[in-house]
Order: sequence, then structure tokens, then C-alpha cells
Amino acid sequence: MSQKAVVLSGMRSTGPLHLGNYFGAVKNWVGLQDRYECFYFAADWHALTTDYADTGEIAENTLHVIADFIAAGLDPERSVIFVQSMVPEHAELHLLLSMITPLGMLERVPTYKEQIREIQNKDLSTYGFLGYPVLQTGDILLYRAHLVPVGEDQASHLELSREITRKFNRFYGEVFPEPKALFTPTPKVPGLDGRKMSKSYGNSIQLCDSEEEIRRKASSMFTDPTRIRRTDPGHPESCNLYDFHRLVSPPELQEKVARECRLAQIGCVDDKKLIADRLIEYLTPIRERREALIADRDTLLDIVGEGSRKARERAQETLDQVRSAMGFDYQKLLAKVAR
Ligand code: TRP
Repeated sequence: MSQKAVVLSGMRSTGPLHLGNYFGAVKNWVGLQDRYECFYFAADWHALTTDYADTGEIAENTLHVIADFIAAGLDPERSVIFVQSMVPEHAELHLLLSMITPLGMLERVPTYKEQIREIQNKDLSTYGFLGYPVLQTGDILLYRAHLVPVGEDQASHLELSREITRKFNRFYGEVFPEPKALFTPTPKVPGLDGRKMSKSYGNSIQLCDSEEEIRRKASSMFTDPTRIRRTDPGHPESCNLYDFHRLVSPPELQEKVARECRLAQIGCVDDKKLIADRLIEYLTPIRERREALIADRDTLLDIVGEGSRKARERAQETLDQVRSAMGFDYQKLLAKVAR
């Protein structure tokens, strides 16, 4: 096994990836593939924490997330790309970690408190939802990961993972490296309505959106609210639309648009057309790769199967170490009897 540090990250498979997922996470993951030994996965069990009442779409969403990953540049030859539930060792490690995780630590997690408050249409007072970050810790420790590239919104989960890791190592010996969050600088990715882009707000542009969808969405984007008439000068620095230029336009175009907007030489409607063109140019190769993968289901399934097999090898190695550290050495004892 190589001496490279191990990187691990995952994404809940609740639907196709949008630009927020791409610019906030997956794009950064792509850049880590040469320097580190990388594991990337679709967290289908984590999707259950909110979608437990209707599981009908989780498996299909999971395959689509894997297709999105690869279309966006994750390379199954260089990274281990897999599905969480295809490596059942996640569940065993989760159970063991749950035994040493104090309830109070989980109840204090800010994302937990926030979601319980914000999400009204689902009953989130479940054991599984409270334990979400314990399962996440299991995901990380199962691969003895050193670095976990995530968005800032995951900071509290990573802190908790580190605490659980220290506690485990204190009780049973130094099995796990303490995982560090790798907060890659993530640009602001606003939704069409100016709030953060999020699946649950219905304000996102997806990697699989067609040209027509992108045009329709671009034309509905919120713009500078202080620019009422076409002749009013605009404020690109505080305009939602301009954030999209920062993401997908070359610097010359960004400067040109900013200048002309300030002088009221370009209107918001023209600018939305420009943005649609740039988004289409940026996303078309990704969408085409994705469509090819979805159309060739056998190949996609092969990739998932092979990635999950590789992931499982490392997971089983870790669990052997864990069982022995905790004194559950039945397999070894049995092997002795057999001899
Ligand atoms: N909680 C992460 C998110 O919502 C997804 C996730 C699950 C994850 N397990 C993980 C991220 C392990 C990093 C490492 O984005």
C-alpha cells in the first residue's frame, strides 16, 4: 500500500448533483486525486436519515450521483469510487462508535438543532437522524482517512468525528489517525433566488440540466434589486447574477460585464443570456459524459461494483484492527482451534 495520505469524502444521494455540490465539493475532490489516495462515495444510508419513509428513489439517485461524480472528473482508475451500503462494514463501525458517543455531544451539533427546527414536513426525531454524525465518523474512520475535503457547513461534524476518534484511541489504542477537515476555498454559489443553492429550496441548476432548462433558469435569476430601470447603473459586486460570472466566465468577460453593468451599458436581460451561454458551455461536456454513463448502465454498475470491492478490502482491514483492539478476536481464536 502506498504511503500517500488518505482522503475520503462523500455525498448524500438524495438527487442529482447541482452547481453548489459541484463547486463546493466535487470540483475540489477532482484536484486531490493525484496527490492522495482518494476514496469518494455516495452516502445512500445517510439519504435514509431524511428519506426513510419512501426509499423508492434512493438506489437510482445513488447511481446518478456516481455518474455525476465521474462526469465531473472523478476517475475510477485513480480514486476508489463506491456506494456506502455496498460496504456493510460502515454499519458495524457505526455501531461500535455509537457505544462511546455521548448523547449530549450529538444534541449540541448545530446542524442537528437547525434541521430539527427548519424541516417541518418530516419527523426527524429518530435515532438515526441524531446519529447521523456518528455514521459519518464511521465512514471516515473505516478508511483510516487523514483528510476529509468538505464544505464549511460540515465543520461541526468533523469536530465531533475528531472527538470520537480521540476517545476511541484513548480506550482501545491508537487505531485511527485523527481526521482533519480540508476546507478548500469554496466560492459562493447562490441559487436562482439569491439564497444558498440547495435542493430543498428548489433554486438549483443541476449538472444534468438541458440547454433549455439552463436558459429558462437563467432568465428567472434574481439580479441587483437596486437596479430597477435599464438605465440605472448596476452593482455587480452585490449582484447574484455576477456571482455566476465568477464561477464560469473567463476574467476578461467578468471585467467587461462589471464595467458595462456599472455604466448601464448592458441590461440584466442581456446579462442573463450571457450567463446562460457560459453555463451551457461549461456544463455541456459534463452533461454529455453523464448521459453516456447513464445510457451504458452495465459499465456504470461495473464501476460501482469494482470500486465498492476495493473499498471493502480496506474496510475489512480496518475492522480486523478494530475488533482486535477491542478484544473481539473470535475469528483468530477459531482459526487456532481449526489448526
Ligand atoms: N454529511 C455530508 C454532507 O451532507 C455527507 C457525508 C456523509 C460525508 N459521510 C461523509 C462527508 C463522510 C465527508 C465524510 O455533505
